[in-house]
Parts: sequence; structure tokens; C-alpha cells
Amino acid sequence: TVKAVIFDLDGVLVDTAIYHFQAWHRLAEQLGYSFSLADNEQLKGVSRVESLELILKWAGMEKSEQEKAQLLQQKNQWYLELIEQLSPAQLLPGSLALLQRLREKDILIALGSASKNALSILQKTEIVGYFDALIDGNAVQTSKPDPEVFLKGAEALTIQPRYCLVLEDAQAGIDAAKAAQMRVIGVGKPENLIGADALVEDLSELVERF
Ligand code: BG6
Ligand code: MG
Repeated sequence: TVKAVIFDLDGVLVDTAIYHFQAWHRLAEQLGYSFSLADNEQLKGVSRVESLELILKWAGMEKSEQEKAQLLQQKNQWYLELIEQLSPAQLLPGSLALLQRLREKDILIALGSASKNALSILQKTEIVGYFDALIDGNAVQTSKPDPEVFLKGAEALTIQPRYCLVLEDAQAGIDAAKAAQMRVIGVGKPENLIGADALVEDLSELVERF
């Protein structure tokens, strides 16, 4: 039985993963480095700070703490510009139908996202009202694949992990859900979702399952 569903945000509910990639890619190019869409899979689900650390590592670059702070600020500024016009039109297929279905079935709903911009994205896409608990990048100390974000979600809902189902599009998120002893459905391409209990292409495939 599933008593609660914990949703990842970027790339699961909303089509924002591409904007994270664009902003990081632009930042990397400014540093004279480039990385591919395939490399970008490793950044998904990972916090802003840790994403920068990974890119600098790939590029073989070292930066001072002050430079890193400036780069993080620049990336987020570009990202915010890209999501400025975000609207319900950028909800991914099945997002709204699944949220509505879960509500009808009295299944609790939480957000488990690494993003510090999560609240504004939920507001712009007009789905914030569906959530019983919001755990985002401001609420956690450790990044996925650490289970903290999902365990905090379960705790906020007062539901035990074994009754929680996580929906994730990133390998780091699949690993985090497993570490939290939760069931997890991978959303997207199978190659980046190793260890998921089940896979779907998008959330529309899940609506009928509840
Ligand atoms: C995750 C994204 O949801 O949030 C990552 O998959 C992103 O790509 C992370 O780096 C942090 O997001 P933000 O909005 O706090 O920079
Ligand atoms: Mg994601």
C-alpha cells in the first residue's frame, strides 16, 4: 500500500531540467569548458553547490570560495531568467492528472526536491496547493543520494518510509529513495534510473494505477 507519494520536482513535475542544463552549460562555456547532455545526467538531482564542484572537477579547474560564490550566483541568475515565464504549460504530461487523482484517493503528497527555487516554481505552475508537505533545497543539509530529503518528507507527513512512493528522474534521486527504504518509480530513460522498482516514460502512465 502507498499512503504517500513524494515527488521530485525538476524533470518529474515540471520541464525545468533543460533550463538547469542551459544555465550550467553557459557558465561552463564562460570558463572555457563544455560538457554534454550525457554528462549533465550526473548533475540531475544534485544541489547547486555540488553541481558546480562537479563541473569544476570535470574541467580540472580550481576556484577560490569567493569565485565559487560568484559563479553560483551567476548560474542562478541565468536560471531564474530562463524560468521567469514559467507557467502551467510547462507541467509535464500527467502531472496535474496524477496530483488530482492522489487527492481524490486521499493519498498524501509531498515534494522532495534539491532546489532552492522549488516554491517559486510550484507557484508559477499553480500546483503548490496540492502539497501536504514541501521539503526543498532550503530544508536539507545533505544532497541526494543522501536520503535526508525523502526522510524529512515522510516525517512531515507522519507516514513511515515503507508506505511512501518516490517519483524521480535522476539517478541520485533513485539512490536517495532506496537509501530511505522507500519504493521508487523512475520517470524517463531507463539508463539513468538504475535500481528503480518500476519505470515510466512520464506521469500519465501512473494516473490509472491509483
Ligand atoms: C534539482 C535539479 O532538482 O535541483 C538540479 O535536478 C539542481 O539540476 C538542483 O542543481 C538545485 O536547484 P536550484 O534551483 O537550487 O539551483
Ligand atoms: Mg529531477
